[in-house]
Amino acid sequence: MPLLQVEELRVSFRTADGIVQAVRGVSYDVEAGQTLGIVGESGSGKSVSTQTIMGLTRGAQVSGRAVFEGKDLLTASTGDMQRIRGAKIAMIFQDPLTSLHPYYKVGWQIMEMIQQHESVSKDDARKRAVELLRLVGIPHPDRRVDDYPHQFSGGMRQRAMIAMAMALNPALLIADEPTTALDVTVQAQVLRVIQRMQEMFGTAVILITHDLGVIADVADEVLVMYGGEVMERADRRTLFFNSHHPYTEGLLQSLPAYGGARERLRPIPGQPPSLLSPPPGCPFAPRCPYVMDRCRTEDPPLAAAGEEPGHISACWLPHRGSERAELRRKLLEAEPAGTAPSAGGA
Ligand SMILES: Nc1ncnc2c1ncn2[C@@H]1O[C@H](COP(=O)(O)OP(=O)(O)O)[C@@H](O)[C@H]1O
Ligand SMILES: [Mg+2]
Repeated sequence: MPLLQVEELRVSFRTADGIVQAVRGVSYDVEAGQTLGIVGESGSGKSVSTQTIMGLTRGAQVSGRAVFEGKDLLTASTGDMQRIRGAKIAMIFQDPLTSLHPYYKVGWQIMEMIQQHESVSKDDARKRAVELLRLVGIPHPDRRVDDYPHQFSGGMRQRAMIAMAMALNPALLIADEPTTALDVTVQAQVLRVIQRMQEMFGTAVILITHDLGVIADVADEVLVMYGGEVMERADRRTLFFNSHHPYTEGLLQSLPAYGGARERLRPIPGQPPSLLSPPPGCPFAPRCPYVMDRCRTEDPPLAAAGEEPGHISACWLPHRGSERAELRRKLLEAEPAGTAPSAGGA
């Protein structure tokens, strides 16, 4: 049985402008010790879907199931969630100052975290805090344990947040854009720290990012989200080398490494959809280079997309590689709908 099983998760918010359908029927599993990458442009519903599982989206209308170690987190009591959060499922965010309190020493905060959930002496908690800081690569952890967050650099704060997240040896770590605010070198270091901690502790990780490059080296499985829905899911190799969905293709083409260094980056033209009364059909249809009439009226269901087990995609393009390639070529060659000169004139 998977460690976490999310089924048909739907989340919406009532706002002054109407109902925002942030997450529209998302399902996925996370196996113990594995890394699931969730990728998609900003506004795809990545954060809302995981925050909801943690009981952190107040005022939202939620349906579906999120079964963790046999318990549905969406219906768990406040007390149960308090016991699970931090101890069994830990979270780290883009901005460490949402987890680290500026007024308290870094080490003290890690000790608090440990002592809230376990009956250990202050001395032992402190020893563990120093050890955790050492494991995430903080130099002189026995001294830096008494620093305040502002005495740490951005990268060190991120490491300290990882140390705090790992303090109780959680079964699952949710990392939401953990490296987005960091420069590229520090980004790679922080990703390595997460990976090392995961190997050492056997933790499962959900790594959320808008940047496919971040998960290229670390994810076992990848979930591509767009417009609050899952567009494609595949193991990492299949996703990078044999993806099916045009949205995934767009994300791949906007990667710096794709197609050689001399090729210019090609961001996907257009903007993600508004989730206030989203139109029928595929959410990606307005930006899709292969759009067909059907795509604008019928939302394609997730279906098996090729030979790899577990590879699914929500797209009306043929799932057989050769047929797909041929149809794509025809669709690209055809005049874009509405711009073709009318035959015969008026
Ligand atoms: N509390 C809220 N109230 C209303 N809309 C929200 C709220 N939180 C998020 N949203 C909307 O939900 C959508 C998905 O947001 P989010 O999950 O943060 O996207 P991502 O993490 O993929 O960038 C966005 O359109 C966002 O504006
Ligand atoms: Mg987000």
